[in-house]
Amino acid sequence: MSLKASTGAPFARILSVGSATPSRVIDNDYLCQFIDSSDEWITQRTGIKERRWVGEGENIETLSVAAATSAIERSGVPLDQIDAVIVATISHYEQTPALAPKLAHQLGLGDAAAYDISAACAGFSYGLAQGEAMIRGGQATYVLLVAGETISDITDPTDRSTAFLFGDGAGAVVLGPSETNGIGPVVWGSDGGQYDAIRMNHTIGSGVKAGVFPTIQMDGQAVFKWATGYIAKAARRCLDEAGISPEELDVFIPHQANNRITDTLLRYLKLPEKVVVARTITHLGNNSAATIPMAMDALLTSGEAKSGQTALIIGFGAGLVYAGQVITLP
Ligand SMILES: CC(C)(COP(=O)(O)OP(=O)(O)OC[C@H]1O[C@@H](n2cnc3c(N)ncnc32)[C@H](O)[C@@H]1OP(=O)(O)O)[C@@H](O)C(=O)NCCC(=O)NCCS
Repeated sequence: MSLKASTGAPFARILSVGSATPSRVIDNDYLCQFIDSSDEWITQRTGIKERRWVGEGENIETLSVAAATSAIERSGVPLDQIDAVIVATISHYEQTPALAPKLAHQLGLGDAAAYDISAACAGFSYGLAQGEAMIRGGQATYVLLVAGETISDITDPTDRSTAFLFGDGAGAVVLGPSETNGIGPVVWGSDGGQYDAIRMNHTIGSGVKAGVFPTIQMDGQAVFKWATGYIAKAARRCLDEAGISPEELDVFIPHQANNRITDTLLRYLKLPEKVVVARTITHLGNNSAATIPMAMDALLTSGEAKSGQTALIIGFGAGLVYAGQVITLP
């Protein structure tokens, strides 16, 4: 007896992207009511001028459904052909069940396989690697990848080292089979030795803080050092693994953690001037897993980037974990 094996498409690509931003605009002056800081300091140290937080009637589900609906409509893929839903998030409150099955149901995707992944700000690229492998391995023909975050829910507005960094939002892509390759090899990894560099201050219901919702804590300098050293090298490896030279690149979409990190990555990679660089951090802040697809959608919508161009994406964050790929823009 021999078992049948699933066989998939020769290649996969991103067919479409969509995103959703919440309505509340939070500028630096607003946050400076709660922390000893200034618009000038936050702008100089991070590049952030404002971020969006969820308001009345908005939450991780509404944002994720809106981003996914936009991506599905733009893809033209019928709902019943989407076989799998992956949600990348660190801000869905419930340990179980996952957000993905609920979204699949709300979107009318039938009995699509659905699960969440927790890879923080690298979550989109982790999910992309999984979706691409599913399509090439024959586990799915079309995959919906959603990155949804409401980091404001787990941010302490009085914490001077994190309060100004994060924003809420969602981005989504539909992945499908392709005759030519649209998703380069993933370069990914982790450094659990720095597990505490970005962490929660406690778990729900634990010890003296029982009943107090946990919030993000961060050793900003350790993350900065890792991102400008190790991640710069990983970004170079993404290009090498995909067989792309810096001159052949059109667009660079690094995780939007800090404009100074982006500047350091640019210097290390020696990207030519013509490369369009995502800077959505200025008005969206750091949206964790959602950052890269939100920036991708923003660049395509504004016309700064074009469908079919070659882009380098790389995400990095709590874990510490990272992942990046060279992709063809949808
Ligand atoms: C958070 C971050 C902006 C802080 O910047 P930094 O330059 O490392 O700041 P430091 O902690 O070294 O503090 C430098 C000075 O600014 C002051 N400072 C710290 N936070 C401040 C704030 N919110 N407002 C004003 N001043 C502040 C410090 O007191 C210190 O003052 P001193 O020089 O008089 O002692 C920076 O470390 C960073 O962006 N790290 C990466 C974080 C990140 O990307 N995380 C997410 C990854 S997914």
